[in-house]
Amino acid sequence: MAKILNGKDLSQHVDSRTQQRAQDFQKQAGRAPRLDVILVGEDPASQVYVRNKVKRCGLVGIHSEEHLCASDITQEELLKIVMSLNEHPGVDGILVQLPLPGHINSSVILEAINPDKDVDGFHPANAGLLACGVPRFVPCTPRGCMHLIHEQHQKIEGLHAVVLGRSTIVGRPMAQLLLMADATVTIAHSRTTQLNDVCRMADILVVAVGREGFVGPDMIKPGATIIDVGINRIVENDRSFLRGDVLFDEVAPIAGAITPVPGGVGPMTIACLLENTVDAAMMRVLKTSVPKL
Ligand code: GUN
Repeated sequence: MAKILNGKDLSQHVDSRTQQRAQDFQKQAGRAPRLDVILVGEDPASQVYVRNKVKRCGLVGIHSEEHLCASDITQEELLKIVMSLNEHPGVDGILVQLPLPGHINSSVILEAINPDKDVDGFHPANAGLLACGVPRFVPCTPRGCMHLIHEQHQKIEGLHAVVLGRSTIVGRPMAQLLLMADATVTIAHSRTTQLNDVCRMADILVVAVGREGFVGPDMIKPGATIIDVGINRIVENDRSFLRGDVLFDEVAPIAGAITPVPGGVGPMTIACLLENTVDAAMMRVLKTSVPKL
């Protein structure tokens, strides 16, 4: 039976380190690190995510501000908010919660964020630095997955990692991080042929396809480490719960280690947002060097 990689416990460990670093920043800068979160519209899932982010900021001593915008805000108005936060010397991190309404071009908004305050790591400048092997801000979910993988593997060098999914938020940055750790990396996606065979080669399998129960036991190499990024809300008999992209009950007996959903990658994503925010404050205000991942 696989070891369960508990993201809730690990995120508390990461948060206590972040809390200490936030205190160190406070002593030197005379104020707490600050994260500004912009939420457009009333998508219930986004509201929950933003509420959790703000709550966790408070727990580690990061000051947070929410900017709640009506769903019919224009792109120009939203850009003005981003610009004002870019220029505000007391703002260390800016996060625009995705998805944005259809009339707003997300790329235009994300590219307008000052790359030095881009704690989501979605700006092309930060994606480019990561691709060059000199990361500044790394997207929070892949950074959290690396923490979880390190719980099982002290050394990733030479292992075969398969990343299922090629999104700019998870799949691509995940592959870059694994490459930086000297893994042999395969990115598989919806057009990959012989997908089961490809996945069965993986010592480390990271699944980010957004389809409930997509990965079953026939895709797993015995003893492999399985990281399930999926968060799929299922409603059955008027009850709602979360399920991952991996069939946990069938895969766990074969795998060497596996993340549960909920309680795996999800809590780590927020822990890494908080880490990125303190990194941002330290680098921009105290001119400390880029953090080692
Ligand atoms: N929506 C879903 N995940 C994320 C994330 O990591 N960052 C932002 N900004 N929006 C999201």
